[in-house]
Amino acid sequence: MSPQVCHCVEVQRIDDLAEDIRALELCRVDGGVFTPAGPGAHVRLTLPSGLQRCYSLVNGPNEDRQLQIAVQLDPASRGGSKELFSLAIGDTLTAAEPDNTFALAEGDDDVVLIAGGIGITPIWSMIQHLEQAARPWRLYYAARSHRSAAYRTELQELERSAPGRVVFAFSSDGQRLDLPAAVNSAGERTGVYCCGPDRIIKEFRALAAGLGERAHFEDFTPAEIAEGGFEVHLARSNMTLVIREGESILDAALDAGVEPEYSCTSGTCGSCITTVLDGNPDHRDYFLTDQEKAPGDRMMICCSGCRIGPLVLDL
Ligand code: FES
Repeated sequence: MSPQVCHCVEVQRIDDLAEDIRALELCRVDGGVFTPAGPGAHVRLTLPSGLQRCYSLVNGPNEDRQLQIAVQLDPASRGGSKELFSLAIGDTLTAAEPDNTFALAEGDDDVVLIAGGIGITPIWSMIQHLEQAARPWRLYYAARSHRSAAYRTELQELERSAPGRVVFAFSSDGQRLDLPAAVNSAGERTGVYCCGPDRIIKEFRALAAGLGERAHFEDFTPAEIAEGGFEVHLARSNMTLVIREGESILDAALDAGVEPEYSCTSGTCGSCITTVLDGNPDHRDYFLTDQEKAPGDRMMICCSGCRIGPLVLDL
């Protein structure tokens, strides 16, 4: 989806949700609404420093006047979460229109949701929409501790109203998320959605391989951009780009006026998949499986780099 429509947005509300997790509400400065993208959607923000980051939306139904995000302060982050934690009410930044690569399917009889840590954010949006539509769901939620579990109070209330549909696993209590049980609880017409760190996603993908299109996942950890310092030739555009350190092939292509498809910019959605005509890519994405990565004939240009050059792309 390129080029993207962007809006100047203002921080209208800040709430501390859990230990090191903060919710921000962003509204368009011109008073406009955002295009509804449904539960599971994400937004690409350009922070005041110029850093660009994608965040899942936690919006409930009919909340199109604001973007609701929840951010975890990550000491190891490359600056995005620290900068968002430094924002105050009234500060402005830029937001693209929301996009959705982790959408909730309509046709499932019921829904199993699996969240690890801050991966609860798109899942919480799904729960609010499922509740409004009176559709059945179950949640398996792993968190470091009670204090670090965002939306714990709301989920405990939902559990009280229909016992058995929320299973917490707090590592501080010695509990571990029983992923096999979560995946195996899916019936013939159950949609299964998982969002969490790389470790959980990898295990989920292996366990859910037999579910086919009923298995959906999103990794909230943006893929690390591969090292720069190499050249890429774009065959169809007939141009050669030098990829600098900290820059992705996608960034360089956009700067050069080429408009590849892209969405998440974090190696998750698959939108930026590009055919490799020569060279060998350094894969960094979460989208392709190891088997799909092996031939090196396709790559995600938002994060992957060059292992053996020259890299020639069908762009
Ligand atoms: S834009 Fe989503 S994987 Fe590259």
